[in-house]
Amino acid sequence: MALPDGFLQELKSRCDITDIVSGYVNLKRRGRNMVGLCPFHSEKTASFNIYPENGSFYCFGCGAGGDVITFVMKIENLDYIEAVKFLAQRAGLDMPENSYDDGMSKMRTRILEANREAARFFYKQLYSPEGNHGLEYFHRRALTDNTITRFGLGYAPRSRFALCDHLRKIGFTDNEIVTANLAFRSSDGRRIVDRFADRVMFPIIDLRGNVIAFGGRILTDQKPKYLNTSDTLAFKKSSNLFSLNNAKNTGSRQLILCEGYMDVIALNQAGFKDAVATLGTALTSEQALLMKRYADEVIICYDADEAGQKATTRAISILRSAGLGIRIITVPDGKDPDEFIRNKGDKGPAAFKNILDNSGNDVEYRLYKLKSQFDLSRPDTKAQYMTEALKVISTLDSSVEQDIYVSKLSAEIGIEKSAVQHDLKKLQKRRHGDNERREFSKISAELTGRNDKLNTEKAKNIRAAKAEELLIAYIVHNNDMAKVAAEALPPDKFVTKFNADLYEYIIERISEGTDPGTTLSRDFTADEVSKFYSIINSFNSQVATREAMNDYINTIITESEKLTKSDISQMDSADIQARLERMKKQKK
Ligand code: CTP
Ligand code: MN
Repeated sequence: MALPDGFLQELKSRCDITDIVSGYVNLKRRGRNMVGLCPFHSEKTASFNIYPENGSFYCFGCGAGGDVITFVMKIENLDYIEAVKFLAQRAGLDMPENSYDDGMSKMRTRILEANREAARFFYKQLYSPEGNHGLEYFHRRALTDNTITRFGLGYAPRSRFALCDHLRKIGFTDNEIVTANLAFRSSDGRRIVDRFADRVMFPIIDLRGNVIAFGGRILTDQKPKYLNTSDTLAFKKSSNLFSLNNAKNTGSRQLILCEGYMDVIALNQAGFKDAVATLGTALTSEQALLMKRYADEVIICYDADEAGQKATTRAISILRSAGLGIRIITVPDGKDPDEFIRNKGDKGPAAFKNILDNSGNDVEYRLYKLKSQFDLSRPDTKAQYMTEALKVISTLDSSVEQDIYVSKLSAEIGIEKSAVQHDLKKLQKRRHGDNERREFSKISAELTGRNDKLNTEKAKNIRAAKAEELLIAYIVHNNDMAKVAAEALPPDKFVTKFNADLYEYIIERISEGTDPGTTLSRDFTADEVSKFYSIINSFNSQVATREAMNDYINTIITESEKLTKSDISQMDSADIQARLERMKKQKK
């Protein structure tokens, strides 16, 4: 059942968009609007706008836009109904009856319930005779029972039916268990089989305390070593981090990024509660933006092996574009953090703390790695090293910092500082030119409609499409003109189908006395909603008049009557006659 208009109206009036967004984004006033750094893409200058007037947001950098519900959907990773529930709870509003009937949302809830039950089951098994070798495994890896309980670790029994049987007994259907990725269907399709068997289990818990997935480690050296839940309706690997639920509460605005579950758990046990890990994939920019909500600085602590060092280089560039400060630690003796911290004596927690406190930043790390690749005793390779090193240094925002590294570099390679500085300036000039070119091609793509993925007819009919968008924006800002516009120009006269649909919806909502913005996020896809807000907020500042509206309408009519050669060849003579008459009239 769709949520009633009245309820949505009430909800929106109680959930002020500025209030909600400022819980996630640092906002500053700019005229009538608020601006801040976009939480949905990486940027250094603010292009994320809040329009309190129409209760919307729009980012000119990445094109994300919508109302307060869309914002919550995106930032909290929720579907529409869940986002409404989230806001209703905040506003102290009861959800209307039957609104839970949304199929997707219901299934998500069931998956989360099944996961929670599964986690309880695995934990219980760990302390049963069958799970004893799992418990021994954890103890052998120096985990205490307290740590095991805190992370809710468990054991999945060897029999391939244990979990399925248990979940079925307490009311889950086969379909729900399979959709949660806790089981798969046997090849004859007749029964379902546990996904995890004879593995120790690591539940993955999101920021609201839901068990969203599992990682399971095999106890022998068979492959695969780890088996993880595939993406489900309730879990997206690329946008979650292991143990962020613990790490976000340390109050330190710093996170330690490790490779594995065991590293994070070992660090936690040793008192470093701000450790997190990706879930068996390389770091994504979504994860970096997520970290940015809880941290200003990330300390990369990957394995010392080659794979770990490669991953470090990748992670640096992702974290950097998210605007995070970076430090890097490499655990000595080729160990991973888990092995290192378990040691007593000169290694162990105190030693780790020491490494942590002395860790260098990403520029130092990259320069250090670079240096090992060049032979600095030869002039040609020395020059190459300088060029590469300057590329790294030029990515620094602060000129003071740049100067420090230029000094270091000049001393290191024995080249006069002014010469090094000169080359840095040249490099920066070139980079500036590249940025301008990129900016130009982006704007030109926008102007010609080439990059409009939703309105694919726009590029072909740019004049008409622009007029259509201006008309839509005008009506949304001047609801009282909707009727006049609709009479002069019914939706089927629009040239592009996408704009026609939007126009029709808006006219209809206004004629029913509803603000179209109230229900848009209920009735359109997220991308369509973004596009709508891009249209109405881009033209927001233009104080259009009724004459302007008439111009838009005339442009659309003229454009719609421009016919292609193939159109003309298919017309009969009466049709051509009628059109000629009309065109002659218009000319006068
Ligand atoms: N991983 C995975 N699938 C694999 C291997 C690894 O998903 N087949 C992921 C896991 O999240 C693991 C991380 O990659 O925690 C790091 O892998 P690795 O360094 O091999 O694991 P360790 O954490 O060192 O595991 P352990 O200490 O248990 O051997
Ligand atoms: Mn390990």
